Amino acid sequence: MNREMVIVVDFGGQYNQLVARRVRECNVYCEIYSYRTDIEKIKEMNPKGIILTGGPNSCYEEDSPTYTKELFELGIPVLGLCYGAQLMQHILGGKVEKAHVREYGKTEVFVNPASPLFSGVGTPVSEAVPGVVCKDHEANSRETICWMSHFDYISQAAPGFTITAHTADCPVAAAENNEKRLYAIQFHPEVLHTQEGTKMLYNCVRGVCGCSGDWRMDSFVESSIQAIREKVGDGKVLLALSGAVDSSVAAGLLSRAIGKQLTCVFVDHGLLRKNEGDEVEAVFGPEGIFDLNFIRVNAQERYYSKLAGVTEPEQKRKIIGEEFIRVFEEEAKKIGAVDFLAQGTIYPDVVESGLGGESAVIKSHHNVGGLPDYVDFKEIIEPLRDLFKDEVRKAGLQLGIPEELVFRQPFPGPGLGIRIIGEVTAEKVRIVQDADAIYREEIANAGLDREINQYFAALTNMRSVGVMGDERTYDYAVALRAVKTIDFMTAEAAEIPFEVLNKVMNRIINEVKGVNRVFYDLTSKPPGTIEFE
Ligand code: XMP
Repeated sequence: MNREMVIVVDFGGQYNQLVARRVRECNVYCEIYSYRTDIEKIKEMNPKGIILTGGPNSCYEEDSPTYTKELFELGIPVLGLCYGAQLMQHILGGKVEKAHVREYGKTEVFVNPASPLFSGVGTPVSEAVPGVVCKDHEANSRETICWMSHFDYISQAAPGFTITAHTADCPVAAAENNEKRLYAIQFHPEVLHTQEGTKMLYNCVRGVCGCSGDWRMDSFVESSIQAIREKVGDGKVLLALSGAVDSSVAAGLLSRAIGKQLTCVFVDHGLLRKNEGDEVEAVFGPEGIFDLNFIRVNAQERYYSKLAGVTEPEQKRKIIGEEFIRVFEEEAKKIGAVDFLAQGTIYPDVVESGLGGESAVIKSHHNVGGLPDYVDFKEIIEPLRDLFKDEVRKAGLQLGIPEELVFRQPFPGPGLGIRIIGEVTAEKVRIVQDADAIYREEIANAGLDREINQYFAALTNMRSVGVMGDERTYDYAVALRAVKTIDFMTAEAAEIPFEVLNKVMNRIINEVKGVNRVFYDLTSKPPGTIEFE
């Protein structure tokens, strides 16, 4: 597909995906490539602009990641960020050194509004600021808050460059050669702490690079439908539908493209949240809104009997994973050979598997590579491979998938199996499903559902004595979990108003048989995990 594109060249910075996401928020399509990517490949892609990311190295050291000087001679606008900015200056004859003061965090930056990147950015500087080193553009400079994180700094801009921003400690916070359309920015416009970062990136990709902003989810849906039809022809496609966002949107898109040539197998392992199996069926089943073959496998009893007596969390995960393969394999055999196996792979899966950028931590993803060898298929089809999660959600809404499904919280593959401490039984599943449904309902009633990133009820393995009416009880304790997090790698317990927690506790104890205590889990991650297993 020949689309208008900006390329992010990744030097191993932690914000590589964020850069691409922010560019896409400007309605410009963007892909991430490692700095090891050959320049010929970049030329072939004919990008409208190139962005060089940050990275952990010092550009003046011998083995540090670098790029050929030719990149800056293609006539394509280049924006360097942090390490990318330093590298650009270093390669083009500027000077980069270890700074006396490390700049880290929100920093006041003085920018020249005459720069095309800073057009409309900042507020007039009200008072003379002591310690300002650079005088180049002081007369009309404006101030704005930006996110800095660097040890090295550009002590001297390369020949042909003008300084367009500085801070109290950093004489070259930005420099540009506007004629050649080369821009170096020491701070991170992609991080939300840079208050006007989105505007700067917009100025770059829509202004300097001249992108028209044609990357929109409605046109993505339309063009994907065409592309799927062309690729699939009259072939058959099989998809394992979990009911989570990615596979649901993939199912919706494929269904709109090829209708009944698509078969979705939905395995209900009996470890889903309350009513979830029926909700998935209501959308994708025969009475739903999509035209496809829907097979629901009610495998609850199979899973419960495999899990009987098992208490160790890793073993539970293993059993649940293996059983899924077995059930799916049986269904696939009944269906027979298909032409395509569809997967809900999304762009972060691709990047984090080391196939896109230069991720420092390369994770192995179950849905990239490692193709199931038990399904008889010719080719993989991944209709969401280019999308970030927020784009998947927008595409889902475009396709008419209900909001409850599109904005679902992350839910682990092994489901409630890992939110029940100790042995999993049908009775315990019922308890945790009911408690969780009450908790979610009350969080939504309190208007907190989009504020807290993940929240759920789990069942401890602890039973203790209580009184209900005149009777002594000996029942389970439910644990409530709620976390605020950006990347799910670290998290903090959310501050839920006491009255909300109190109401949840009252309702759970009154309405869920088998529970006589409710705890709120205050643990952050680390040392805890988000899940309660
Ligand atoms: P932890 O518990 O490791 O969870 O802090 C981090 C995030 O990952 C989700 N999670 C899973 N997601 N399969 C998944 O698809 C799994 O096996 C799994 N285990 C944890 C968890 O819900 C949280 O969002």
